[in-house]
Amino acid sequence: MNMSDAFSEQEIRRGLVTKLVGKDIHIFDELGSTNDLAKTMASNGAPSGTVILADSQTKGRGRMGRSFISPPGVGIYLSVILRPTLPPGRLPIITLGSGVAVARAVNEVTDLKILLKWPNDLLLNTKKAGGILTEGKIENDEMSFIIIGIGLNVNTEIEHFPPDLLPLVTSLKAEKGERISRTALVKELLEQIEWIFFQLEQGCEERIIKEWSDYSTTLGKWIRVSSQNSVIEGLAERLDETGAMVLRRSDGQLERITAGEVTIIKDFK
Ligand code: BTN
Repeated sequence: MNMSDAFSEQEIRRGLVTKLVGKDIHIFDELGSTNDLAKTMASNGAPSGTVILADSQTKGRGRMGRSFISPPGVGIYLSVILRPTLPPGRLPIITLGSGVAVARAVNEVTDLKILLKWPNDLLLNTKKAGGILTEGKIENDEMSFIIIGIGLNVNTEIEHFPPDLLPLVTSLKAEKGERISRTALVKELLEQIEWIFFQLEQGCEERIIKEWSDYSTTLGKWIRVSSQNSVIEGLAERLDETGAMVLRRSDGQLERITAGEVTIIKDFK
């Protein structure tokens, strides 16, 4: 193993068995946001499977305009450009599938069990260890490209986070009690993302939804979903075939939710 664990294309390529993801790999010491660069490159014609990886980000972005703290040498900040043939309505399920890919990769490399909080949070022991930001461009009712942005706190010391976030965040190292090879994890991530992408392209949504449900920390709980103009509460019953959350409200009515911030109000366990 490369002892400094600095990213190198050669190390990532060694033994990598992907056909598409990682066809081109671009590595940077520092970027504003890997998703921003990925979007620019995709708009300029970068091929499907292109990977952008940064050792640190100065403007790492999360959902809902939040920032993603991205200190150097310790995390994975990675974006993958994909050009799916799926219709634009399938974008949510790509986010969910990416969560499954990360959970699988983390489990494979570290034995830790990531749980997924709908739609895109990666949790370890109820604390956030990372997140996924999927963005895309739709042209003529087709997905021109999507960017899967993955941020993971790998060897991050918890002191890197602002004091108010300390009770809410964690890293793989903090949970495992030992350093983890970022390179091994990047390789596994690329392989798992490719596997999920091919599954979705072949129409195996049901399988992905089933697997996501197994990793879910949201289903079966009484939750509140807040979005820009509404707050809805209900039982998180299941995901539908597009990846939307189906909520059963207290009056029995079903509501299909496609976006929002989830707070778990009651765990029936
Ligand atoms: C979230 O927690 O809401 C999502 C966080 C996603 C962070 C990753 S880091 C790599 C990629 N580039 C970004 O600017 N954001 C994503």
